[in-house]
Amino acid sequence: MAKYFITTPIYYVNAPPHIGHMYTAVAADVLARHYRNQGREVLFSTGVDENSQKNVEAAEKAGTPIQEYVDLMARVWKESFNDIHITYDTFVRTTSNDHKTAVQKMIEAMQAKGDIYLGDYQGYYCVGCEEFIAEKDLVEGKCAIHKTQPKVIQEKNYFFKLTKYRDALLAWYEEHPNAVRPDSARNKMLSYITDEMQDISISRQAGKWGIRFPQDESHAVYVWFDALINYLTVAGYPAENFRKMWPVDLHLIGKDIIKFHCAIWPAMLMSADLNLPNTIFAHGFFTINGEKISKSLGNAIDPRDLLKEYPLDAIRYYLLREIPFGNDGDFSVDRLKERYNSDLANGIGNLVSRTLTLVEKNCPNIVFERNSTLDISKHIENLSFDKALTEIWHEIARLDIHIDDKKPWELAKQGNKEALESVLAEVLSGIASIGTALTALLPETATKIHDLVSAQPIQKPLEPLFARKN
Ligand code: MSP
Repeated sequence: MAKYFITTPIYYVNAPPHIGHMYTAVAADVLARHYRNQGREVLFSTGVDENSQKNVEAAEKAGTPIQEYVDLMARVWKESFNDIHITYDTFVRTTSNDHKTAVQKMIEAMQAKGDIYLGDYQGYYCVGCEEFIAEKDLVEGKCAIHKTQPKVIQEKNYFFKLTKYRDALLAWYEEHPNAVRPDSARNKMLSYITDEMQDISISRQAGKWGIRFPQDESHAVYVWFDALINYLTVAGYPAENFRKMWPVDLHLIGKDIIKFHCAIWPAMLMSADLNLPNTIFAHGFFTINGEKISKSLGNAIDPRDLLKEYPLDAIRYYLLREIPFGNDGDFSVDRLKERYNSDLANGIGNLVSRTLTLVEKNCPNIVFERNSTLDISKHIENLSFDKALTEIWHEIARLDIHIDDKKPWELAKQGNKEALESVLAEVLSGIASIGTALTALLPETATKIHDLVSAQPIQKPLEPLFARKN
């Protein structure tokens, strides 16, 4: 069976995770669980981006030494991902020695190709973005995303000859029309690579924090350059066995970081003679009242606060169902509650409890077909999580209608045991299929359903799968 290597971005630790970060992690978790269930060897990596200037500023603000600060925050992120049951296989930290080794080896490989040179840099730098900004992209002199004034930087930096790879990148796009998805991201990148791309500076002279540049201790490696290499670190690079999982099958990213993943990163891999990822998928943003949710704008929702109110699967359901993966959408707690009551409490929850109550009362030892007939794999593999859930919910609606039509409670009253069992067997078999189809999407609900329909004799649930909220 083929391997499957899936990654999320690594997250800055200048604040705890918010719901937007949980979004990528949940989507990646669905895919990792799906492919593991198929028997593939999965490497699912996530982690934290620690060498950033943003983190230094946050540590200063908190009055904590930077190393202590990143140690603490790395723990917070890891625990948050554990709390939301993200089944990552590796949680990388970019201050680890393994990662430093990978970065230095990668730079040496690129140097050996003659792709790194010392040059002069002058320009605007936004610490929030950890990125240089072109003058034309400033809005009233400020970064359009962070609404802060960028720093002006003038120094000697090491540069990567990104422009050397322009034609090779365009050829890669041409040969792999599905490598960068969705098309909006692909088109943006094609025009960036064709018209705008320049060599990039990959070191900083200022600042003591960060990985030292090989053979030149006075420079730190540019944090984005270092961060991208995490994907090699988690595979085991530079040890030869990293090739077992290489290349990455799917990088899941937000649409704000496509330039790094869909232009700079593939060029870095070309320079080091390493294989390029199969797919890079950029999802949209969750907004609150139309504004990007972000730590710096102060409108973040902590997933752990939502978990005090809602079961984990309710949040997973909302994130995966509400907005087609790839699009933007507004996050609303009211909408989460609506979906919770209509689709979960009244939908799947009610179907399971009404059916099992009838079964317990009339025929707890009933025999029914357990061949799963509901196959939503194609939607999951296509990252159409909303479609996968819609298809499952159609089946829930069909079974509800079947019960309403056949009225098994009347068949019971009439003593028509054969007809009664035939209806309930069909519904039970449908519920079992739904449970199986939900395994990767809503794993806890899937387990509950599986346990309920596997019991002998069958009993009604002691408590509802999802209790209605007022
Ligand atoms: N550290 C870099 C990534 C390096 S990967 C080699 C970074 N970190 S981040 O913490 O700012 O963002 C991490 C991811 O979270 C990005 O994919 C970003 O798009 C995503 N999101 C941040 N806010 C988001 C929303 N409001 N909605 C959806 N995703 C969002 O960038």
